[in-house]
Amino acid sequence: MASRYPASWLDELRSRSEIVQIISGYVGLKKSGRKYWGLCPFHGEKTASFSVDAEQQLFYCFGCKAGGNVINFIMEIERCSFHEAVELLAERAHMPMPEMINDADWEQRRTRRERLLQANREAARFYHETLFEPAGAASLAYLRKRGLSDSVIRKFGLGAAPDQWSSLTDRLLAAGFTLDELSAVGLTVVKPPKEGGDKPRYFDMFRNRAIFPIIDMYKNVIAFGGRSLGKDQPKYLNTSDTPVFNKRKGVYAANLLRQQRHLDRVILVEGYMDVVSLTQFGINGVCATLGTALTNEQARLLRRFAPEVWLSYDGDAAGQHAILRGLDILEEEGVPARVLDFPDGLDPDEFIRRDGAAGFSALPVLPAAEYRLRRLKESFDLSQDEGKMNYIRKASLILAPLDPVGEETYLKMLMLETGFSHDVLKQQVDTARGEKRKAPENISPQAAVRKSGSVQKRITAVSPELAAQEILLGLLATGQIPKDMVEEKDFEDEELNSLYTALISGASPASLLDSAPDEETRSRYTRILMTPAADNTDQMISMATECLERIRKSSCQRQFDALQQQLKSMDPKDPSIPSLLREAQEIQKKLDKMK
Ligand code: UTP
Ligand code: MN
Repeated sequence: MASRYPASWLDELRSRSEIVQIISGYVGLKKSGRKYWGLCPFHGEKTASFSVDAEQQLFYCFGCKAGGNVINFIMEIERCSFHEAVELLAERAHMPMPEMINDADWEQRRTRRERLLQANREAARFYHETLFEPAGAASLAYLRKRGLSDSVIRKFGLGAAPDQWSSLTDRLLAAGFTLDELSAVGLTVVKPPKEGGDKPRYFDMFRNRAIFPIIDMYKNVIAFGGRSLGKDQPKYLNTSDTPVFNKRKGVYAANLLRQQRHLDRVILVEGYMDVVSLTQFGINGVCATLGTALTNEQARLLRRFAPEVWLSYDGDAAGQHAILRGLDILEEEGVPARVLDFPDGLDPDEFIRRDGAAGFSALPVLPAAEYRLRRLKESFDLSQDEGKMNYIRKASLILAPLDPVGEETYLKMLMLETGFSHDVLKQQVDTARGEKRKAPENISPQAAVRKSGSVQKRITAVSPELAAQEILLGLLATGQIPKDMVEEKDFEDEELNSLYTALISGASPASLLDSAPDEETRSRYTRILMTPAADNTDQMISMATECLERIRKSSCQRQFDALQQQLKSMDPKDPSIPSLLREAQEIQKKLDKMK
């Protein structure tokens, strides 16, 4: 897309599409404080964490972190493109569609990403077409041998990479893509020219493999997985991270998940084949991680599609271990989880081929606590008193967070398993509850390590200084603090700095979200631009003053530290030392004044 809507027309559209009114058509909202609140339509929840800010015309969910302006809301709720959302709102506001304009600057920024996605899209088409041609015969035979029907092959857009060195690259070069672009998306491996030559050498990344295109929820082809047809290693070759792909953030089959409304659970499996195979047997809402263990980002993404996640990993030891880690991650993100337990070490694909959809539906779905207890029990010898005691101690930590009904159920189970009385067990759980409140790290050593890791990350990600910059920007966005209080250099963070520049030049907070390159950034921008919790202008100004002090002080401190570092590493005879020392003294004075 080389053209775009005029910014002023979009502003007009947004101002005629009052966000509280529009969202009220989908979600029940109640006013409380400066914002409206309701149950988030994008993830299952019982208490309202979805907020709408009428002043800034933004929505933000504190649970699943979905956020944006009114156009973004329509895109999410109607599951449509930006273009379609704009048309829908324009029709509602009785605004004629405008003439599109060309904008070289905007085009350049957009174009690189769009061209990379376009290259992927062309590649996916090439692979899919090849599957039904002679060059794809081996892959097609392989997929058929694995029991896949033509219809499921088409549903997932599976393909074939021919057993040739550069058939895809040659095709895409001829279509006008450059080697630089093809190597950036990981489709082509480029080597420097041979000695004496001047042409770079290149070959296709995927050769002689069955291809699983990875498509995000906006239907962009972002990456590929290639299954070897025989014993070639690795079994699955995946696109590494690229400017349009981050394997920690997406899931396989997100495009299909998004089409399936009102899912009551998402089934998360380990492998691409498991997703395709379960889908062929009529199981819906299935997806997989992308060759990594479940990440916090993925857990948050899944929460958007359904209120619960069922972990359905391989029945082997590695899969069982991954379930415990996955449960911890989902718990960290507040996503209710259950476990589908596969017998005989089978993976979901093998199981459903053996026992069919009926066998699959009859599988026990274990609540997280029950699964954890089962696994725990395996590591103790319950015929010995010591084993029983240790089991009870650990088990009570698992029961501690449960509600009374859950607790009661498992207490009965523990009574049967250990022979301890109800009172003794109950007491143990209550004790664990007290300890847990003091030290939540008690849950499992792995969870504790990860938890402290993620807290650490959050602390470093939002240092007091960065937090001050974010708050300051939010205050500025209200238009209620004097613009000249703040300077551009107060925003050292690159993203915040560009938001500042746009705000100062008169852009509305809601319009700034159009420039967010991805969902996570949009969520961050929204959180920052929401009206801060202040009662009046005076309070806002005093908050801003406090932020500025903090920002300017740490910036001074940093300058001072850098100077000191520089001075230390200098030759003592260096003629510039006196002037640097004077500079350092000046900064020191400023710092003293601020303290
Ligand atoms: P599995 O080896 O369990 O996959 O790996 P699978 O689906 O059962 O494979 P089939 O049935 O033999 O075809 C699970 C997932 O781990 C990643 C892939 O995402 C795969 O789907 N994986 C596995 C790799 O990325 N590379 C590998 O070499 C193997
Ligand atoms: Mn398998």
